[in-house]
Amino acid sequence: MAELINAMFDPGLDYEDLDWVRQSWPGKLVVKGIQSTEDARDVVKHGADAVLLSNHGGRQLDRAPTPLELLPRVRDEIQEEAEIWLDGGILSGADIVAAIARGADACLIGRAYLYGLMAGGERGVRRAVDILRTEIVRTMQLLGVRSTAELRPEHVTLR
Ligand SMILES: Cc1cc2nc3c(=O)[nH]c(=O)nc-3n(C[C@H](O)[C@H](O)[C@H](O)COP(=O)(O)O)c2cc1C
Repeated sequence: MAELINAMFDPGLDYEDLDWVRQSWPGKLVVKGIQSTEDARDVVKHGADAVLLSNHGGRQLDRAPTPLELLPRVRDEIQEEAEIWLDGGILSGADIVAAIARGADACLIGRAYLYGLMAGGERGVRRAVDILRTEIVRTMQLLGVRSTAELRPEHVTLR
């Protein structure tokens, strides 16, 4: 595994490489793995259309920042200059509602769809997405909001 990682990932990657990607790719550019307000600011400065707050599911570093906690500070920092996406620990529709309430434009899922995939292949993935959708609606009903635009940070208590 270590050999594979050394072959796949270039530890010398820097913002010049991001500039090169930006110049080469006219479509939307999303930078994944952002874990600080400073990095969020820098990737937006270098042309990212969206920052993806992610500690890659916390699978490598147990104590990496939790994206849901970091989120409001990043929103304050970059305002509406770029979209903010988030992943890591999204296992229910209520998690998605919490992320949107704290300032995210979108969430991604890793394990949640993989569990569905393992249980039932493509049908299992569709079922996992259906469950998330149902939970989003139920959570919003319980909160008494009619649209995601009404969600506010006050709707969420993390601890
Ligand atoms: C089996 C597996 C392999 C992954 N491999 C990568 C990877 O190569 N690069 C990467 O950026 N993230 C990788 N991730 C992290 C996901 O892209 C995503 O950030 C993470 O799964 C989100 O957290 P969640 O699983 O709690 O939803 C992997 C996740 C899993 C479960």
